[in-house]
Amino acid sequence: MKNLVLVLMWVLLVNQASAQCPIIPSPSFYSPGMKYRIESALVLDSTELDVNNWNYFKSCLKNLFDIDLKHTEANPLFHFGASPNLSQPPNIADEGYIIDLTLMGNSIDAGSRSGQFYAINSLLQLISHDENGWYIQGATVRDEPAFKWRGLHLDVSRHFFSVDEVKRYIDLMALYKFNTFHWHLTDDQGWRIEIKQYPKLTEVGAYRDSTMLGHYSDQPRIFDKNAYGGFYTQDEIREVVKYAQERHITVVPEIELPGHSRAALAAYPELSCTGLQQGVPGTWGIFDDIYCSKQETIDFMKNVLSEVIELFPSEYIHIGGDEAPKVRWEACPNCKKVMDENELANTHELQSYFIKQMDEFLTSKGKKLIGWDEILEGGLSPNAAVMSWRGMQGGIEAAQQKHEVVMTPTTYCYFDYYQSSHPSEPLAIGGYLPLEKVYKFNPVPNGLSADEAKYILGGQANLWAEYITSLEQLEYMTYPRALALAQSVWCHEKPSFEAFLSDYLAYQEDFLERNDVNYARSIHQPQLEISRKKNGINVHFKGMGDDYHFTVSTKEIGGYSMSGGQAMGVNDTLFFEKAPWGTDPKIIQTSVLDEAGRSSLVNRFVLHSNLGAEIEMVTQPHPKYNHNGSLNLVDGIIGTLPWKGSQWLGFDTSYVEFIVDLGEEKDISSVELGFLDQNGSWIYLPEQITVQVSKNSKWCLKKKFTTKVESTDPTLLLNTSGRYVRVRIEAMEQIPIGQEGGGNMPWTFIDEIQIR
Ligand code: ACM
Ligand code: ZN
Repeated sequence: MKNLVLVLMWVLLVNQASAQCPIIPSPSFYSPGMKYRIESALVLDSTELDVNNWNYFKSCLKNLFDIDLKHTEANPLFHFGASPNLSQPPNIADEGYIIDLTLMGNSIDAGSRSGQFYAINSLLQLISHDENGWYIQGATVRDEPAFKWRGLHLDVSRHFFSVDEVKRYIDLMALYKFNTFHWHLTDDQGWRIEIKQYPKLTEVGAYRDSTMLGHYSDQPRIFDKNAYGGFYTQDEIREVVKYAQERHITVVPEIELPGHSRAALAAYPELSCTGLQQGVPGTWGIFDDIYCSKQETIDFMKNVLSEVIELFPSEYIHIGGDEAPKVRWEACPNCKKVMDENELANTHELQSYFIKQMDEFLTSKGKKLIGWDEILEGGLSPNAAVMSWRGMQGGIEAAQQKHEVVMTPTTYCYFDYYQSSHPSEPLAIGGYLPLEKVYKFNPVPNGLSADEAKYILGGQANLWAEYITSLEQLEYMTYPRALALAQSVWCHEKPSFEAFLSDYLAYQEDFLERNDVNYARSIHQPQLEISRKKNGINVHFKGMGDDYHFTVSTKEIGGYSMSGGQAMGVNDTLFFEKAPWGTDPKIIQTSVLDEAGRSSLVNRFVLHSNLGAEIEMVTQPHPKYNHNGSLNLVDGIIGTLPWKGSQWLGFDTSYVEFIVDLGEEKDISSVELGFLDQNGSWIYLPEQITVQVSKNSKWCLKKKFTTKVESTDPTLLLNTSGRYVRVRIEAMEQIPIGQEGGGNMPWTFIDEIQIR
């Protein structure tokens, strides 16, 4: 017997050394033990198990594994220890828990009902199946969250999701220990919450008579002409709030003001500056018509918020505050009167004044206001919390001013962005946010003192639904990226990305399948790693791990005869040689197939004569849109649409300048550049390009060529020679007023430069 115990201890220790952890988010401590067989029922002592938690555990066990949950006080597999009634809370953090399912113990202790709920969700991930049937992986688990706000957001205005679909979203959040559901209930394209005092908000504001199809940047834009809409009754809202509460999730409602309010203004046009009757728009974007700042609107908003407060027990109420153009306010006599009476210097201060009214009102009702980081402009209201989305700077400023902050920067947290550049990705708004990038998210940015960092409540991902038209697609955009986010908001010290990926692949894809989640398989596509090589580039197809096998085949297209396919293994590299000077580029298409014949990654390489050339960037791309640095401009991959971020370099500067080194002096007849024209995303063609050529990088004014840019692929005709080619691109001064982002500086996105 003693020997058996020793052997088991040894097995346990060996297991521990190589232990992969099935639980995500990764617990603070995990040490696996032996397997405990489960026949048709899991039998435990539930005396101390909270009744909601019991119901949740029971239904998950049944739905996921067809296992029953049974109570016994005689010889249970394990028991729930002190916690739910907290008569004697053990020494565990509020949301923490300890699972001790080992040779030595059989208890689960928690610091609260929430902690107990998180323990249950970990147990669900410890259940597995082998040739002998179901078992629960015995383990010691100690765990507690790093952050108080672990959020996912959902926009139900641009596309509507039914109560059942919202519940499903909440169910999946619960599995990964998210605790805040940010429900974006109102926006330009639809008002989705019943307000008894203002019935037209839903009678009129919840429906639009057309919806944009395709991408906002498509020319021409196309629309369907179908009525579209829906809203939640107050009873349905209560039902969702209760459902979430049972899963230890707080629902934070967002009622947008003063911008993104066209649906409300369609119902009550008298609340706008012009009083003009307009419909609920079926197009996306930012609209000039926003709530007027007059007293009548403030009273309306307070009445709306009074009903909202009654429905949502949440401590925080989100009032939006983002993307509110001030053109109507600038021209409005009512707004001018409010500014004069309150001695406000400009319309930013007017917005701040508007928000302060809401802050005072919510504070008087025992609630806290939270808003997007634009609420910093014109002065932050005394009790406001800030949700930082335009990067983390807004959050940093707010924390330094001792205001609470939730970090949700586009860079890491916008799950409406593409997660790979694979052609099969469903249409998305743009941008590029692969799983690995999400994993890098840390809600506490560098540069905050420990004292300031205390104001960071946590982080959240946002699911804006312009292009998310179904629950299936919503799950695709959310998973698996939400698991990477869960790591960032739950773990005190998260494992490396490689360790996370290995755990994810070993356990979580099965778990997601068991939960019928339409998760994205984008990470199964090999990544392309491109590097400069003498006379060309190396393209390395990087698979996910040693076990992942695929083949890459190449063929020449565009006037060349096809050559045979080429079989490759994992981690293979192709060398592409640049075309000899003076000849046309060769076009090569590569495609990747996995063993099951699935998932083909097709890439097209244009092997031009300056492929892989050295480039000195005089202006640096914006860090968000700087995939592979200057090599991006000469990697043979021509940027395509829809825009997925990784193929382009993006600049928010008034000009862009770089110098290409051809290695030796050449006769140069033309320079061709590629630009992105996506005005809906504030990306514009530049005004003009100037090219200079030099033998020795001393710039002679005579060898200067300038052209206006009128297409996405302008070509400058030169007749000169030299080694260095300096390109200067002048952006348009500002986005024309009346356009999306009017008055702001446009972005310039460039791709391949081809010199002949
Ligand atoms: C936002 O994405 N406009 C908050
Ligand atoms: Zn006004």
